[in-house]
Amino acid sequence: MKEFKRYTVTSALPYANGPVHIGHLAGVYIPADIYVRYLRLKGKDVVFIGGSDEHGVPITIKARNEGVSPQDVVDKYHGIIKKSFEELGISFDIYSRTSSKIHHKTASDFFRKLYDEGKFIEKTSEQYYDAEAQQFLADRYIKGTCPHCHNEDAYGDQCEKCGTSLSPMDLINPRSTLSGSQPILRETKHWYLPLDQHEAALKKWILEDHKEWKPNVYGQCKSWLDAGLQPRAVSRDLDWGVPVPVEGADGKVLYVWFDAPIGYISNTIEWAEKAGKDWKKYWQDEEAKLVHFIGKDNIVFHCIIFPAMLRAHGQYILPDNVPGNEFLNLENDKISTSRNWAVWLHEYLVDFPGKQDVLRYTLAVNMPETKDNDFTWKDFQARNNSELVAILGNFVNRTAVLTQKYFEGKVPALGSIEPFDRETLNDLAHYKDKVEKALETFHFREALKEAMNLARLGNKYLADTEPWKLIKTNPERVPTIMNICLQITANLSIVMEPFMPFTAEKIRHLLNIGAINWNQLGSHQLIAAGHQVGESFLLFDKIEDAEIDAQIHKLQETKKNNQTQTKVNPAKEVISYDDFSKMDIRTGTILEAERVPKTKKLLKLLIDTGIDKRTVVSGIAEHYEPEKIIGKKVSILVNLAPREIKGIESHGMILMAENSQGELGFISCDKEFNNGSEIR
Ligand code: MF3
Ligand code: ZN
Repeated sequence: MKEFKRYTVTSALPYANGPVHIGHLAGVYIPADIYVRYLRLKGKDVVFIGGSDEHGVPITIKARNEGVSPQDVVDKYHGIIKKSFEELGISFDIYSRTSSKIHHKTASDFFRKLYDEGKFIEKTSEQYYDAEAQQFLADRYIKGTCPHCHNEDAYGDQCEKCGTSLSPMDLINPRSTLSGSQPILRETKHWYLPLDQHEAALKKWILEDHKEWKPNVYGQCKSWLDAGLQPRAVSRDLDWGVPVPVEGADGKVLYVWFDAPIGYISNTIEWAEKAGKDWKKYWQDEEAKLVHFIGKDNIVFHCIIFPAMLRAHGQYILPDNVPGNEFLNLENDKISTSRNWAVWLHEYLVDFPGKQDVLRYTLAVNMPETKDNDFTWKDFQARNNSELVAILGNFVNRTAVLTQKYFEGKVPALGSIEPFDRETLNDLAHYKDKVEKALETFHFREALKEAMNLARLGNKYLADTEPWKLIKTNPERVPTIMNICLQITANLSIVMEPFMPFTAEKIRHLLNIGAINWNQLGSHQLIAAGHQVGESFLLFDKIEDAEIDAQIHKLQETKKNNQTQTKVNPAKEVISYDDFSKMDIRTGTILEAERVPKTKKLLKLLIDTGIDKRTVVSGIAEHYEPEKIIGKKVSILVNLAPREIKGIESHGMILMAENSQGELGFISCDKEFNNGSEIR
């Protein structure tokens, strides 16, 4: 492996339109922080870059909805995010923001260089324009009817009801959300980065030269590259962002995904100025290793588009690795800012004061490294009580207490070493390699598991040697045993530092020692005999059921609120009584039900309609188990023209209620009526 002189480590700049939640942390900031803390402990020259991503359409929408300016929105969330990261111990060398002057200049200069060198292509296209509001409309500013499911509130980029991604031109009856008026098509000019021109080079760089990238990252890159790259617009018609630095480009800004990654560079420049460093050594020098920590939704931007920008510029290095993670779910449900389904960092810090490391630990243990993973409060409690308290805390505490008790807090000298001691010391010596190897290859869960195994080793050693018995039967053994326990404890202060820096600091405090370099890990000569350790105290406290129940209750309330607050579709157009009376709807009973093979949604039902017994195919398989609905009373539209579905002739339709979450429920009569009773 190549040895690098410097490390430039970035973590995705979070959008400043909301606070940070555990999904962001587990995916990006915890792994990045573990990595840089490890590098620093090894004495490496590393800069860790963070910052807020303050441009883009969602921020302008939030500002409009709240009746404030976009700058107000980002000021608020930048403040919350920055403070909460600090409290969690995410050790950025700088946490800045893309609305800063220096970023505007850096991004603007970057664009201008590419522009001057003819690295863009200019294209004119027709886009929706709101004549009343006098501006072009971003996709999210246009609503209309979805061509697939006829939802009347589909957005210009996506229908949230059926999940189809759309372009504004797909919408039926488009309307502007700014003025409500019907938008018109107007020509507008934009600059495009011709990704196709970089395709061959990117293919070689990723697919051949970076086979070591994580499979999830490599795989996504491969499917993009195999599909072929197209030119990508890097400007937008919007009044919030970095203005396009070209004459006659009024009302145009750089696309947020063009300016934001340049934010890594801007923030490095800002840091270097303050720290008296040369920023170019971290970005334009082959001896620097650039690593981007991101979530899976950012892969294409960091592995394809940003590298293409850097190549086009010509003076930059490309990332050596892009350790992208999958997503973390919360209590088996997708984390969602808009549904408030999240554990917010700033709230956690208030609810669990002093317990930063418990969250850091739980999130690292459950890090979605290779697949989506789940956070639950019960697991959080169990990790604390049966791992942090019972393993790590227990070992360190017993060591500290026994040292006070038998030696008045003075480290006893190592006496004669027996085979079992030797074995334990040999084991101790092996952790460095194991943890290092895992960290260097971004296997953080594995690394943490090995680090905890060191605490397990200590516990086992204590349990097997039982110094509290030996003190009566064989007291000459005790100094050696306690010396070894103290050396293991000192080793824990090193190995835990990347994962749980607050705990590592507490261990150092307990031992009354300063920071120790990573390279000493594995040594059993970290503290000298005669050294006076500090007063003992508990590293971790048990978390009681009541605290966990309160958090679970909070989430249940959120679920309830979401269900009552969700919107109801507007009424359809008026029909006549005749239209209505054409429908023949009857009460019926389900006699038989079975899944339609090779489909997810369909059940084949046999219905007693009172008139006859007939087969109906119904799209309810995701909501009801076939065995459980036999005997159910239903309403059925009996005079609907028969239709063949998956080779089965379906005669009629079962009426279902559908709520805004897309759940389905049967409609039935609240009295025991015969099948075939008419519904009108
Ligand atoms: N704000 C983006 C997100 O949260 C990440 C931007 S990363 C950067 O998905 F590279 F563009 F800065
Ligand atoms: Zn739709």
